[in-house]
Amino acid sequence: MNEDISLRKVEHIKICLEKNVETESSNGFEDIILIHRVPNISYDKIDTSIDFFGKKILAPIIISPITGGHELGERINRNLALAAKELNLPLAVGSQRIALINKEYRRSFEIIREISRDIFVIANIGITQLKEFPVEKIQEAIDMIDANALYIHVNPLQEVLQKEGDKDFSNCLEKIDDLKGLNVPIIIKEVGNGFCMEDAKIFEEHGVDAIDVAGLGGTNFAIVEYFRNKRDIYREFFNWGIKTAVSLIECLVATKLKVIASGGIRNGVEVAKAIALGAYATGIALPILRLAIHSHEDVVKYLKGVIEQLKIAMFLTNSRNIEELRNANLIIKGFVKEWLELRDIDVKRFAKRRKI
Ligand SMILES: Cc1cc2nc3c(=O)[nH]c(=O)nc-3n(C[C@H](O)[C@H](O)[C@H](O)COP(=O)(O)O)c2cc1C
Repeated sequence: MNEDISLRKVEHIKICLEKNVETESSNGFEDIILIHRVPNISYDKIDTSIDFFGKKILAPIIISPITGGHELGERINRNLALAAKELNLPLAVGSQRIALINKEYRRSFEIIREISRDIFVIANIGITQLKEFPVEKIQEAIDMIDANALYIHVNPLQEVLQKEGDKDFSNCLEKIDDLKGLNVPIIIKEVGNGFCMEDAKIFEEHGVDAIDVAGLGGTNFAIVEYFRNKRDIYREFFNWGIKTAVSLIECLVATKLKVIASGGIRNGVEVAKAIALGAYATGIALPILRLAIHSHEDVVKYLKGVIEQLKIAMFLTNSRNIEELRNANLIIKGFVKEWLELRDIDVKRFAKRRKI
């Protein structure tokens, strides 16, 4: 079975490198307009850093979970760790299930700590594995990479379309209650289809520390699985889910949790918009994967560009630091506005809840 999982992971990566696996749907951030200001600050003094679960990082940008559990994954994770070290950004690994089943597969994850003891690292396990593994085993995933936080990914669309997928999600959420004894923050995460406010509330009740919406607008696993299985019936799910900007707002409105915006985030202006809406941080996967396969320098170059765009957006919203960007004024229009109104969320009040 291990070999099957490993082969499947390599297949996913190859498809993501060779095919267009992004949904045609936008991430919704085109409907968020930051109000352009006359700056009363110096560009060179702008500070993009934040405190991320107790550690200072360069900018509110996470390298989202991608992989591990095969040689290709080792190369990718090595380059990601080198980039994360150079930039001081958090790095998440892909699902560690395979390495929990068979120790031989640990190296592609452990390589990260050989490269840096200091970076903020996020462990990763699927919600359905909470049925498969006892808490001690989840702690093992954390210890394997001396992780600073744990992602629990929730991927029902992917599991239901994947031939080998686990299609029984019953009683998984309750299992989160058992994780209270873990020594790191727990972040619940989608993989490209977003969360709605009803589920965000349930996550909060089960005691997670944060939500990563991983919403609609970027990589979509219905498309990835379509390329594996060539089943036309999957096409109806290519645009399925809740746009990242919408999901971010729903989770912010419904809970007091920290909310991370990811799913189709591709540039620093989108990062700035997410932060101004109230995101704790943002995350990027696919563009980083496509660069990490070549070199860590390519990843660094891309992320430096994203951070520069964020800084320019901060200058133009008169924000000296991320706290001030959180107070930047904005407008919510179009599809996102309509969606929020239909969901009885007071759009104007939400947009203005943090006044200058
Ligand atoms: C090849 C590949 C593998 C992934 N594997 C995982 C995983 O193991 N665990 C997880 O939480 N997310 C995984 N993801 C999902 C990403 O972390 C992210 O949520 C998703 O790709 C949407 O972000 P993007 O549009 O920036 O790619 C994977 C994504 C890709 C492209």
